[in-house]
Order: sequence, then C-alpha cells, then structure tokens
Amino acid sequence: MVERISERSAGMVKVFAPAKINLFLAVMGKRDDGYHELCSVLGKLSIADSLEIRRKNGERGIKIKCPEYKDLETENNLACIAVKKWLLKRGEDWGVDLILHKQLPPMSGLGGGSSDAVSALLAMNELGDEKLSRKEIIKMAAEIGSDCPSFLENGLCMAEGRGEMVRTINHSAAHNLIGQKVLLFRPNIGLSTPDVFQRLSQTNEFSSVEWVHTRLGMWEKQKISITEFLHNDLESAVFYKHRYFSAIFEKIKKTFGLAPQMSGSGSCCFVLIPDEFERVAALESLIYQAWGDDSWVKFTEIIH
Ligand code: C5P
Repeated sequence: MVERISERSAGMVKVFAPAKINLFLAVMGKRDDGYHELCSVLGKLSIADSLEIRRKNGERGIKIKCPEYKDLETENNLACIAVKKWLLKRGEDWGVDLILHKQLPPMSGLGGGSSDAVSALLAMNELGDEKLSRKEIIKMAAEIGSDCPSFLENGLCMAEGRGEMVRTINHSAAHNLIGQKVLLFRPNIGLSTPDVFQRLSQTNEFSSVEWVHTRLGMWEKQKISITEFLHNDLESAVFYKHRYFSAIFEKIKKTFGLAPQMSGSGSCCFVLIPDEFERVAALESLIYQAWGDDSWVKFTEIIH
C-alpha cells in the first residue's frame, strides 16, 4: 500500500494527499452507464493537502474542520464519505475528528477531493482495530470516485475504464519523469467535471482506440518525447466557452517555447519546466498579467 503518513501518535494520524496531473487524457466514447471510457497517464505531485484524523473512543459521528475552505465542512466532503464507508465496512463504531488543510483548490482537475478520500481510508486503516485489505481499499476507493484508485499507486500510472482500472507504468519513459518540475496555474474559477464531460459528449469529439494505442506505444518506446505525447481531450470542451485558456496557451508557446496543458476536467493547467529553463519568474508574471492577481500559480514536481 502507498505510504501517506507524515505523523502518528496515540489515536491520531496525519496524512498527506498529493495532487495529480493528467499528462495524457483520451476519451474514447460515452458508455451505457453514463460514464465515459477513458485512457489516462497520471503523475502525482509534491504539492498536497494534509489531513489530521483523530479517533474518539466513546463518541460517535464524524466532525470535519477545513480552515481554508469553510464550505467544504460538510458530510458530503469525500474525506467524510471515506471515513463513513470505512467504519461501516469494518463494523467499528467510534467518533472521528478530521482537520483538512487544503492547498489544492477544489474543482481544478488536480484530484484533491479524491486524494483526500484515499488518504482518509489509509489513515483509518492505521487507527482501526483491524485493517481492510488492499483489495477492499481499492474497491472502496473506486466506489467513492473514478480517479480515487489512481491515488493508491506510486509513481506514474495508467487509468482506464471510467478511470478506476489502474496499473503502474514501469518503463524508462515514466521513470525519467520523476522529479520533473511543473508549474501549475489556475484562473480564479472552478469547473464541474460532469458539465465538462457532458459538453464533450455533445460535440462527439472522441479519440479512436487505435490512435490512443499508437500514441501510448510511441511514448513507451520513447519514439516521441513527453512534450509531444501531452494530450487532453477535455480541453476543447472547456476552451470553446472560456477562450482565455487558448489565448494564454498561445502566449506561453510563443514567448517561452513551452507546451501548456489543462489537467483533467480543469480548471488548473500545467507546464513542464525543463531543468535548464531560467525564466520561471517571467512565466509567472505573464500568467498573473493575463489572468489577474487572483489566479493560483504554484511550482511543484512529479513525485514517485
Ligand atoms: O466518478 P466520479 O464521481 O468522480 O465522476 C464524477 C462525474 O464525472 C460523473 O458523474 C460523470 O458525470 C463524469 N465522469 C464521466 N466519465 C468518467 C469519469 C467521470 O462522465 N470516466
């Protein structure tokens, strides 16, 4: 199981919940169950939320505090849902206090909520009388959200199906990306994942399975670089309405020769920063100038 614990004492566990970016995200069509069939290559980032979970013996119920985002202090928070599911499945009955410190803005395509839920499951496994097996945790994660199981794998991984079928990628093209510097940038607006998928469905602009397999094969055999491999089918479903995305992407390409991309269903975008690139400050200024001082810009890196 992945290691997410950063601190531990009697009845308390602190866990971190890393962000993800989708380096490659192809959507192949809409399924009968309403979800979309996809194929994605995801990387985990050093930037993370942190979650403190306390076991309260002799008490009942789940309390959550989220100082940075008060509106996330509800039982619908995916971390609360994860805790509730864990207690129900294990048949244990004690109170839980959660303190969620969010670095990752919600509705960004960085998987923050899903990662919080997975880290909550792992923390509960530490605090409980008995653990759930890895298989049970994976199943529970997939029930909570399509991209949750990908947070149970180390390193780069490939997600298929609705996103819940996950495997690690173990070739050198993937290993080379560990430690890769990344600049995240997000306009001061969140996007709804269902809305973005629905828009893509309306346009019917899906990738063919053949094209996806060809691209994956070329990247794995290192016939194309990561920059050439970057792809996200959900961009068109967002950019048609929010034209400032294409505008800033063009500026970044023209001014710096870098290749920006949106992560997941947005609104956060990223650009891979080569080691020799010395103009990060200028790139950040360009983003703030284009999207305003209230945009969110963070320098981070891909982790194992
Ligand atoms: O699985 P999750 O609850 O995270 O998905 C949120 C929503 O995103 C789904 O209800 C669906 O509208 C959309 N989605 C999709 N196809 C996927 C994943 C998510 O249409 N593969």
